[in-house]
Amino acid sequence: MKALILVGGFGTRLRPLTLSAPKPLVEFANKPMILHQIEALKAIGVTEVVLAINYQPELMLNFLKEFEKKLEIKITCSQETEPLGTAGPLALARDKLIDGSGKPFFVLNSDVISEYPLKEMIEFHKSHGGEASIMVTKVDEPSKYGVVVTEETTGKVEKFVEKPKIFVGNKINAGIYLLNPSVLDRIELRPTSIEKEVFPKIAAEKKLYAMLLPGFWMDIGQPKDYITGLRLYLDSLRKKSSPKLAKGSHILGNVLIDETAVIGDGCLIGPDVAIGPGCVIEPGVRLSCCTLMRGVRIKKHACISSSIIGWHSTVGRWARVENMTILGEDVHVGDEVYSNGGVVLPHKEIKSSILKPEIVM
Ligand code: GDD
Ligand code: MG
Repeated sequence: MKALILVGGFGTRLRPLTLSAPKPLVEFANKPMILHQIEALKAIGVTEVVLAINYQPELMLNFLKEFEKKLEIKITCSQETEPLGTAGPLALARDKLIDGSGKPFFVLNSDVISEYPLKEMIEFHKSHGGEASIMVTKVDEPSKYGVVVTEETTGKVEKFVEKPKIFVGNKINAGIYLLNPSVLDRIELRPTSIEKEVFPKIAAEKKLYAMLLPGFWMDIGQPKDYITGLRLYLDSLRKKSSPKLAKGSHILGNVLIDETAVIGDGCLIGPDVAIGPGCVIEPGVRLSCCTLMRGVRIKKHACISSSIIGWHSTVGRWARVENMTILGEDVHVGDEVYSNGGVVLPHKEIKSSILKPEIVM
């Protein structure tokens, strides 16, 4: 079985992190986002993953080469010369996706995180006999997504409306599809949207079915949702009694700490924290609802909450970093500095406090 992951787009909503790495390679819970997906695909028997990409393919492929061997899965790129949207890339990769077996293939948005119930999805797809299956989930703010109206008992999709201005329903497209090869015959090789141009047509022909996703789901393509997503992900690890979660009297709730990170005495860490490889957390530090990427140093008695600290950044002593502060790569926050929602571009030094949410260039 094959799969295609849509990895184009510039990840602008996840800046400044995406100034240093393409969105799919930004770590989530100490693992590049795209690896969560590739591992899930491998686990249900996918043998080849095609990355539909429109910039920096070398970067991605070099990085993934190591995992190709480790996971024993073939990873190839299909590169666009102009962004082809969410459907055009499928037409471009047509020859890579069709293998003559007539089997359906998976398509994934690269920024969605869940428990990926892909096996269940295959069963669902077989059971309805339609042309395409999409995974849906219920959310409070459906207008940010593609809304799907279904027949309650069968899951047959009656309507698919991308980013509706008025309320149509609260079930949304989770960005995980299983498509018969015949869907490719509906897509022209040009910039085009699967949500606006392909799904509404298949729905109108009554051949599109939606499966309600069991468990948690989040599009982690924006900082606030990334932080919420981490909470949901760690919570799902807790439910599975995962041995990956940290233990100890200095740990509160669900926390992930890479084995190479060093934690000083008298720290209090958690809930909902991920600490990446090589991080150094000096004594007396308080961390909650935050992610520290690889190589971060947090100096004595600093306090960090609801924030993301980019690769190799440092936070000074007694500093206080909170309220969706996002530090890019290699940012240095001085001693006693306060950051209230600062979004700081890579390689900056912050010597005075950021009192209200703003971008620091
Ligand atoms: N190759 C390629 N080329 N990929 C692209 C392009 C492109 O031109 N444009 C976007 N993508 C990829 C993105 O990298 C992402 O993985 C996926 O397509 C969806 O794009 P987003 O920009 O993240 O869209 P969205 O989050 O606003 O909406 C989509 O996802 C929602 C769920 O998270 C839609 O599919 C909605 O219907 C859905 O509800
Ligand atoms: Mg998205």
